[in-house]
Amino acid sequence: MQKITVHTSAPYDILIGGGLLEEAGERLAALAPGAAVAVVTDDQVDRYYGDALLESLRRSGIRAAKYVFPHGEASKSLPSAERLYQFFSENEITRKDLAVALGGGVAGDLAGFAAATWLRGVRYVQIPTTFLAAIDSSVGGKTAVDIPAGKNLVGAFWQPSLVLCDPRTLDTLSDKDFADGAAEAIKYAAIFDRPLLDLLADGRARERLDTVIARCIQWKREVVEEDERDTGRRQLLNFGHTLGHAIEKLSHFSVSHGQGVAVGMVELTRRTEALGLTEPGCAEILAKALAAYRLPTRYEGGLGELCPAILGDKKRKGGRITFITLQTLGHAVLTDVDAGKIAPFLGAE
Ligand code: GLY
Repeated sequence: MQKITVHTSAPYDILIGGGLLEEAGERLAALAPGAAVAVVTDDQVDRYYGDALLESLRRSGIRAAKYVFPHGEASKSLPSAERLYQFFSENEITRKDLAVALGGGVAGDLAGFAAATWLRGVRYVQIPTTFLAAIDSSVGGKTAVDIPAGKNLVGAFWQPSLVLCDPRTLDTLSDKDFADGAAEAIKYAAIFDRPLLDLLADGRARERLDTVIARCIQWKREVVEEDERDTGRRQLLNFGHTLGHAIEKLSHFSVSHGQGVAVGMVELTRRTEALGLTEPGCAEILAKALAAYRLPTRYEGGLGELCPAILGDKKRKGGRITFITLQTLGHAVLTDVDAGKIAPFLGAE
């Protein structure tokens, strides 16, 4: 088992290792002796792992109740958070108690947001069951729900008290869902860690999951410790995301997050190579690694059609958009572009 401690405003441990799901009871009893636990999960994850978690909690004498919501992004909403508050109320969850997010990004964001706001903040634990959640959303304390005006517009920075990452729970992921996480792992490699890119490039990340997860989390830990509230270096984690979010949005979310980020990273890097900002050849190396997980790497429309969605992005700061660009593989920088110059920057005059 590996342990990584994140030194944020409230420090917490991330444990990575096979069998942690079954050990959750002991770990939570040690974290919060006497606490009751509200498990928050979706109907799909519940089928695979809900009982194992509940049994583990009960074996450790923990009073536990489970809230199951319909899987999918539509559950990351204010009405859904309100139903969860009602559940917390019925189960008498107090500030001494714990919420536990069991699942992917939606479970983590919804449970984290509800925990951040219930009684002005109760502690929560993340148990990620997707590759994407394991290496990204379960760490760093970004919690949110969506509103009609956009994704993640309502939320809070609220750090978990513990993250239990059991890579065995990733065995049930389809190749497509696994690929969404692979896109984010390749993102960490592209911005920080060229040797990690070489490790991922053969398409066989599943065979070395513990190593890959720990390496990605080490990077995330480093930037989150330096910039907990995402005003500086943490923004590097958005490499590929400005184009990626626009692509997802224009496809009405038929393109997944990982697919959008994959295309976004490569298309942006093709452009920044053409502009002389990036060492030539990086885009093709990135594209090959992504293609090894059957991720797309080309946007079939012109990048110009993404401009309106980019200009509506919540990360816009006044008249400027911050793009994350590669100088070379393993080294990324923040590049501010005037809103009026986005089209030429993307090669769409
Ligand atoms: N997913 C990007 C971040 O946590 O900052």
